[in-house]
Amino acid sequence: MTDDTLTPDQIQAIRDRVADLMPQVRADLEALVRIPSVSAASFDQSQVARSAEAVAELLRREGLDVDVVTEGGRPAVIGHVAGPEGSPTVTLYAHHDVQPPGEEADWDSAPFEPQERDGRLYGRGAADDKAGVMAHVAALRAHAGNLPVGVTVFVEGEEESGSPSLGTILEKHGDRLAADAIVIADSGNWAVGTPALTTTLRGGIRVVVRVQTLDHSVHSGMFGGAAPDAVTALVRLLASLHDDDGNVTVDGLDAGEAADIDYDEARFREESGLLDGVSLIGSGSILSRLWTKPSITTIGIDATSIDKASNTLSAKAAAKISMRLAPTQDPLAAFDRLREHLEANAPWGARVTVELEEHGSGFAADAEGPVYDEARASFADAWGIDPVDMGVGGSIPFISDFSARFPDASIIVTGVEDPDTRAHGANESLHLGEFEKVCAAEAIFLARLGALRA
Ligand code: BES
Ligand code: MN
Repeated sequence: MTDDTLTPDQIQAIRDRVADLMPQVRADLEALVRIPSVSAASFDQSQVARSAEAVAELLRREGLDVDVVTEGGRPAVIGHVAGPEGSPTVTLYAHHDVQPPGEEADWDSAPFEPQERDGRLYGRGAADDKAGVMAHVAALRAHAGNLPVGVTVFVEGEEESGSPSLGTILEKHGDRLAADAIVIADSGNWAVGTPALTTTLRGGIRVVVRVQTLDHSVHSGMFGGAAPDAVTALVRLLASLHDDDGNVTVDGLDAGEAADIDYDEARFREESGLLDGVSLIGSGSILSRLWTKPSITTIGIDATSIDKASNTLSAKAAAKISMRLAPTQDPLAAFDRLREHLEANAPWGARVTVELEEHGSGFAADAEGPVYDEARASFADAWGIDPVDMGVGGSIPFISDFSARFPDASIIVTGVEDPDTRAHGANESLHLGEFEKVCAAEAIFLARLGALRA
């Protein structure tokens, strides 16, 4: 391949065009945020259909040939526009569904009413991942009428629900998603002012563990002291998952070391909101604890609530556990190790059953080659400094399905998030200055790929 590198003037022209486009891009983003497209089953799914239609319309206006496809799950949008003869094809991914807003009272402005404060746009999905959708639209607009590459846009509607029908979508429509490069705009950058390519993500499993100690609940005065209650047994079982330092005690799991990037405890405390006096858990570098080692979190417990409590030994209790896995870990093998641990550590012979609810693979990119070179150069063009390779502790499970289906495509994971984004939390927000750079980098990346000729 030869690299007909863009001139500095061409790059500046793209940056200027993107700057001019931003007011409309932002208005379109706000319109998307106003649609409460929560894919979780207990929410109104007609809103997810509305957001799919809104995304489809944005793409149609850019001249793409667009379909909304539903394969047993939530609607996804697939659009395509051909590039110049012989040019590569790029598939651009984002998701239009969002997480539930949580407690509205925890928000400083209504979750589905976008509001700007101090250079950030607040709202559920303002970053994760409607800004990812709009970054793709912005890149298309920057090249309107003169696209340097073929582009396929794939905007999924159920990423926040674990992409249950993605396998079927890939089976039925996968041929339309084939590309030389796949840009997944669903991660973020290292810090405001410092771009990053996400080169590893953790995998994960979600498990429900149920504990039973008695045939039926009984009087705590008559039987307490000799019979174990299920809640206490469950709590002891959960406690067995970490050692005193907070390292995961489940045997036989993959764990690696993260790249040696500067990240100190003070920054972690600040970004995570850790309270003074509460210590970190685990050992090794903080980034390896977050990116390349397994972690275990109890995300829900079923037990008698305090207001319904009586002097009773509970017969049953249950917990939901979310486990994050090293990027290379086979999630089903990790589930087997966790199940063995829970069964082997059942306190006082309690009956323990373990059910796998969800599993997803991690990802470790082969972050080399001409496409990665152009991606890094584009980030440097947009920010004025070179991007770092970072991991993230979160998961985008379908990336491994994409990479299995399109083994020759370079997968580039980008995104709009920064350490203050609070994706999934109250007061989720987008840094508008960084957002413009994300849009510019993607527009420049398409131009750079177009200049790469076989
Ligand atoms: N955008 C996130 C993934 C992510 C998290 C990227 C943190 C960068 C940093 C994505 O939308 C997400 O939340 N994924 C879920 C996957 C789950 C539903 C299978 C996650 O990580 O919990
Ligand atoms: Mn996301």
